[in-house]
Amino acid sequence: MSTENLPWDARAFLPADADPDLDQLRRAAAGCQGCDLYRTGTQTVFGEGPRRAQVMFVGEQPGDQEDRAGKPFVGPAGRVLDDALDELGIDRSGVYVTNAVKHFKWTGRGKRRIHSKPNAREIRACRPWLDAELEEVEPRVIVVLGATAAQALLGASFRVTQQRGKPLEGTGLAPYVVATVHPASILRAPDPETRESEGRAFVDDLRTVKHLLNTA
Ligand code: URA
Ligand code: SF4
Repeated sequence: MSTENLPWDARAFLPADADPDLDQLRRAAAGCQGCDLYRTGTQTVFGEGPRRAQVMFVGEQPGDQEDRAGKPFVGPAGRVLDDALDELGIDRSGVYVTNAVKHFKWTGRGKRRIHSKPNAREIRACRPWLDAELEEVEPRVIVVLGATAAQALLGASFRVTQQRGKPLEGTGLAPYVVATVHPASILRAPDPETRESEGRAFVDDLRTVKHLLNTA
């Protein structure tokens, strides 16, 4: 099928059903060609977690391991997230985890596939999946992990470094949105001390999220 006449985003690939459930969405997303990244990634990595989870984590895009596994946050960044959730006593199986962009974008360097940042057009193209997930899950709190997710949900002028860990109300997305850094950025810290302090700050931001859940 030629894609030339289709709107160049994911909308054309949404299920025909007016109110699709997460399984229908996942199946439809598996065939998405809403941007060129379907050629690059092995498979669509859709979000994972219960319908009506109280909290939804939104990352950037699947990484190398997520691309192979077909599941979000199962690689090194996922372990940082898991450790933080463990420390706070938040059960990962009770939260919904997804990404702003659902295919892995990479460039080859030898045998390695190096993560490449999705651009504004790709983020926009993939947004219908995130909107559909939000509609189904209706989280009380959205946790925005890093600049790409922030760009997708809060606009390009949002600065995570200035607003991190603060509950944002009135976004129209969920009762609360909390932005923090991407867990992969903690792994890129230049030395062990910075890594430790960045890890602390990440847990502190997520503690805010936990408090928002406790007041439910
Ligand atoms: N980084 C992300 O943003 N998402 C993943 O799923 C894995 C790594
Ligand atoms: Fe579709 Fe998103 Fe994959 Fe692009 S990145 S092909 S919009 S699922």
